[in-house]
Amino acid sequence: MANPLHACLLLALLFLALAFFHPGGVAWALSSSGGHGAAAIPGPPGVLLAFAGPNPHRTLARLAASRGATRLMAFSVGLTRFVVASHPDTAREILAGAAFADRPVKEAAAELMFRRAIGFAPNGEYWRRLRRLASAHAFGPRRRRLLQLASLDNVMASVFGVGLGELGEGAVSELEEMVKQGYELLGTFNWGDHVPLLRLLDVHGVRRRSRALASRVRVFVSKIIEEHKRRRDAKYGGGGGDDDGDGDFVDVLLGLEGEERLEEEDMVAVLWEMIFRGTDTVAILLEWVLARMALHPDIQSKAQAEIDAAAAAANGDAAGLPYLHCVVKECLRMHPPGPLLSWARLATRDAHLDHLDGGRAMVVPAGTTAVVNMWAIARDGGLWRDPGVFRPERFLDEAADVGVGAGCDLRLAPFGAGRRACPGRALAMATIHLWLAQLLRSFRWVPSGDGGVDMSERLNMSLEMEKPLICLALPRT
Ligand code: HEM
Repeated sequence: MANPLHACLLLALLFLALAFFHPGGVAWALSSSGGHGAAAIPGPPGVLLAFAGPNPHRTLARLAASRGATRLMAFSVGLTRFVVASHPDTAREILAGAAFADRPVKEAAAELMFRRAIGFAPNGEYWRRLRRLASAHAFGPRRRRLLQLASLDNVMASVFGVGLGELGEGAVSELEEMVKQGYELLGTFNWGDHVPLLRLLDVHGVRRRSRALASRVRVFVSKIIEEHKRRRDAKYGGGGGDDDGDGDFVDVLLGLEGEERLEEEDMVAVLWEMIFRGTDTVAILLEWVLARMALHPDIQSKAQAEIDAAAAAANGDAAGLPYLHCVVKECLRMHPPGPLLSWARLATRDAHLDHLDGGRAMVVPAGTTAVVNMWAIARDGGLWRDPGVFRPERFLDEAADVGVGAGCDLRLAPFGAGRRACPGRALAMATIHLWLAQLLRSFRWVPSGDGGVDMSERLNMSLEMEKPLICLALPRT
């Protein structure tokens, strides 16, 4: 072998070794961006495999704490630069910061049409239009009465104007199966998202499977759109017509005119996202709440006493149940469905974060994926008294001022914050409160068998119970 070749190989190896040991790892070593006078963001060297494991939120929390990098930690996954904030101050800077108004789009999300839906549309006029539409029509006051229904059926009714029963047996299981597959694909760790060569090869088959699923979704949702078009034609004689308030979200989309009008492909994406997001998170949270109820009979009895005493609850109105609301908040604190606020943010330009130790700003370069570890924040002993203890009463005393809104207290923000905060928060909270009030009023929830409840968790798309909850629901007399 010629000497120049040896020298080149040696240099390349030296560079790789240096890159490997760079704070934050390989992707940070390759980054040229950085601000003058800004401090380097601390972080582990090499390439982190946290996302390939079952509970990356725990791994990242441990790493950040051990490196004294809870405010901000840099790390690399393949060639992707990441930062993670495990502190409310830096979390706010990311979630509310104008520089972090985009989201990174995984290959599965792009293939499953989510780039044209609210969650992954780039910050801009199209995304603003969709948010306006969703808050005015899908989650707005006119839809409030639909909150009296529940979960998938609820979302299907408010979005598509059909209950699951009306779709027929086969369609229901097809829909369930499509949502499940979508979650699986989005939850799969895909090296292709972080190493361009592997993306070309589609090593996990994510692209192939996502495309196949997207075709099925198109057919399914297009059928519902066609059905609505037929109904509208029959009603308005083909001349269109305003949404008179009786229509569902499909009617609203079909009634848009001029610049507001959406292409059919965009409508499919927006409607698919609504079903997709509206089902899993709420069902998973309810499972955690019931598990907690079975584990803590004293807390369960207290919530039931409140429900029994509230005449309003007998009408299915969960609004006047402050203790029940605390139970749900405590579950969101200990078991947030999106512990890493699953839908990460992307820095669209170099962003200066100021709330860092020692008063020195740090610069997060454009193109970096920013994650907030809400799980770590909600378990921080410096912010919460006895963070590992399930105690809903904390929201009546020392943490009485902490809400779960998109407001300013980032100690508990399971729905995110800032302009891209979850638009489904009110729908989700109303559904959970309503379901829980009904389930606790009618049944006593007790562990089955040996008296234990397995609280192990696993982060797929959402933070799920590793083993489905098994407990007894004994009718209350
Ligand atoms: C317990 C239930 C739910 C939880 C914990 C939850 C959590 C979240 C979180 C953490 C985000 C990212 C926020 C951010 O980046 O700041 C988000 C975004 C979003 N959620 Fe939810 N969500 C829930 C239910 C729902 C429901 C029921 C819907 C709709 C039917 C929904 C629709 C959306 C949409 C469209 C976005 C993207 C917003 C955007 O990028 O502009 N979510 N959600």
